[in-house]
Amino acid sequence: MDFYDYESRLSRPVKVKIPDFQAGERLNHVIFADQFTRGLLDRLGRIADQIRLLAKSREGGRFLNDLLRHKRAMLYFTQPSTRTFLSFMAACQILGMACSEVRDPAVSSESKGESPFDSMRMFSSYFDVVIMRSKTPQYAECCAYMMNDLRETSRRNIPVINGGAGADEHPTQALLDIYTIQRVFSFFHNRDSSQWKWLDELRTRYPNLRKGIDGKSFGFCGDIRRGRTIRSLASLLGQYEDVTLNFITPRHPKLAMTQEYRTRLLNRGVDVREYGSFEDRVDGEPLIETLDCLYMTRIQREHNRPEDEEEFREIDFGNFKLTPQLVSRMKPYAAVLHPFPRDAEFGEIPTTIDVDPRSHYFRQARNGMWIRAALLAYLFDVDSTITDFHYDYTRETQDYNVGAL
Ligand code: CP
Repeated sequence: MDFYDYESRLSRPVKVKIPDFQAGERLNHVIFADQFTRGLLDRLGRIADQIRLLAKSREGGRFLNDLLRHKRAMLYFTQPSTRTFLSFMAACQILGMACSEVRDPAVSSESKGESPFDSMRMFSSYFDVVIMRSKTPQYAECCAYMMNDLRETSRRNIPVINGGAGADEHPTQALLDIYTIQRVFSFFHNRDSSQWKWLDELRTRYPNLRKGIDGKSFGFCGDIRRGRTIRSLASLLGQYEDVTLNFITPRHPKLAMTQEYRTRLLNRGVDVREYGSFEDRVDGEPLIETLDCLYMTRIQREHNRPEDEEEFREIDFGNFKLTPQLVSRMKPYAAVLHPFPRDAEFGEIPTTIDVDPRSHYFRQARNGMWIRAALLAYLFDVDSTITDFHYDYTRETQDYNVGAL
């Protein structure tokens, strides 16, 4: 794919690019996780909570379903996906948007030589947003620049949402991960936390435990270097106070964190630590017993080159698999997350762990539908309409502070 027209824009640091993806005060395109400020993360989390409550009733569902009935979404996913594709589709359906899809370029006119940029321009002729996943890094970013150039010349342009770009970024996965972590550490939601109003009980054992993400210790285990979900989430966690990020990964340069990424996190004041096993000590205690949240990932074998297979044979991958015994030693309120898919053959999270109350990965995937609906509502500027309706609805029907969440 030829990115010649965009090269000078692509080579800039992310923080310089971010204003290009705004429309006034609001996000227009969603390309990088770093576009989400802490304030916006909180706002989107609240909208998602409101949507999920409203969607439970016929009246609320009908209200939501009418909000974006006049909009159409294109799901352009030319790299495999289950969760991102389906949760975006379900999010569109919740808000009443019609969806179309292209999942295989071989059945589009790209098979006749049409360029992917012409395909994108065509989508912008028929639809109101493109949600895309591509194996080509920076393609979604270039599409956003193309839309900006069209806007400059007063031609039709639409928002672009990056649903995972090569090994680069997966910003909406980071969004759903943060939403899940917010809910778990609210110690309030009876579905995402193990028990109702559990915090008071826990504080007898953990007196310093507070609500929220600040001050928590996170573990990231697996394929750190090639894991776009880890990179995107770790960037967002860097916005919170006093978080510790512990990376548990083989000490192989093709799997461990890059120096560049380590420096980026350290420059933000994040406490970054690296380990080779869950049993490594932190102030005398095994790491696994100190974590508030553990984010497991699979080793992405599909990216292995033939020479990697040989080099990786030296690694004891058993250190990067979770077992029921390890989970039983975690704090009772700790959360185990995984972006999925998990690798059934490798077994980084065996299914026997699924019943443990610390397992949140299926809820995490479902949260993706609610937070993506919130994101679409925000992009199309109907989020305040949802908040107003929710306020009236809950005031009439239940105690606001309980019912709203
Ligand atoms: N987590 C995630 O992106 O899953 P999919 O690849 O199934 O979309």
